[in-house]
Amino acid sequence: MSEEKKCSGNCESCSSKEKENCALNETLGRIKHKIVVMSGKGGVGKSTVSVNLAYALALAGFRVGLLDVDVHGPSIPKMLHLEKYQLEAAGNGKILPPEVAGLKVMSIGFMLENPDDPVVWRGPMKIGVIQQLFTEVEWGELDYMVIDCPPGTGDEPLTVCQTVKDKGGNAVIVTTPQQVASSDVSKSVNFCKQMQFPMTGLIENMSGFVCPKCGEITDIFASGGGEKLASSYGITFLGKLPIDPEVCKGGDEGRPFAYYRSETPVGKAFAAAVEKIEEVLS
Ligand SMILES: Nc1ncnc2c1ncn2[C@@H]1O[C@H](COP(=O)(O)OP(=O)(O)OP(=O)(O)O)[C@@H](O)[C@H]1O
Ligand SMILES: [Mg+2]
Repeated sequence: MSEEKKCSGNCESCSSKEKENCALNETLGRIKHKIVVMSGKGGVGKSTVSVNLAYALALAGFRVGLLDVDVHGPSIPKMLHLEKYQLEAAGNGKILPPEVAGLKVMSIGFMLENPDDPVVWRGPMKIGVIQQLFTEVEWGELDYMVIDCPPGTGDEPLTVCQTVKDKGGNAVIVTTPQQVASSDVSKSVNFCKQMQFPMTGLIENMSGFVCPKCGEITDIFASGGGEKLASSYGITFLGKLPIDPEVCKGGDEGRPFAYYRSETPVGKAFAAAVEKIEEVLS
């Protein structure tokens, strides 16, 4: 087997593929953990969990990046109030990720001229763009990169998992308490198993409703589906995040809940999930 070359992608004698691989390895080597947030089901809160986990990690003192690879529905620019952000180049020609309260952010959404235009890209195009989001962005040294994926097990999660597998890549699976969600989410768990991609754990989002008046939590969907799913697959249960209208408002207004409301039950649940993630990864 040939020994893996260590260079920064500028080596004259390398082919362009070798240069790409070198640049990718160099970038990935500077980011310790890559947490891929995924779910077989749409709308369960992957983007909400990604943004808030990233902030909870940053609040815990880590250097964190947030990468949005949802080609067809990037939500991160809106959730961080970066809809109008114009990309800038760093001194070395790479893309400079905007920093929001210490968090480095990159989204395919920043590359679209009009956020309401549909993206019509076939698989190979998506794969190329996603890999460039690693190599062409000035991420620097990070402890964690949180990667928000679209629902399902298509090109985007597949490309991300293949890219970061055996290079500090781990999945966080998001589900909601209902059984119908659990059966869709099982597909993501099995996808990771088939790829032999490690799973840090599973989060149950929208687990009970926090009354805005009295703060009491009511289970409006069935409860415990996430915990059962996690134990049936032998993966760590990272906790339950209740439905809180303020979480939704924070997402719409670009004010991440875990950052602005860290003292609330949902804020504390994110902090507790981060502690478990740290435990699993250490
Ligand atoms: N715990 C919560 N409490 C209240 N609202 C929530 C909660 N989690 C998510 N939401 C809201 O639910 C909606 C869907 O969440 P989000 O966009 O994060 O889901 P998603 O899984 O990323 O969706 P998609 O599959 O389309 O990418 C958003 O409006 C979000 O603000
Ligand atoms: Mg999303």
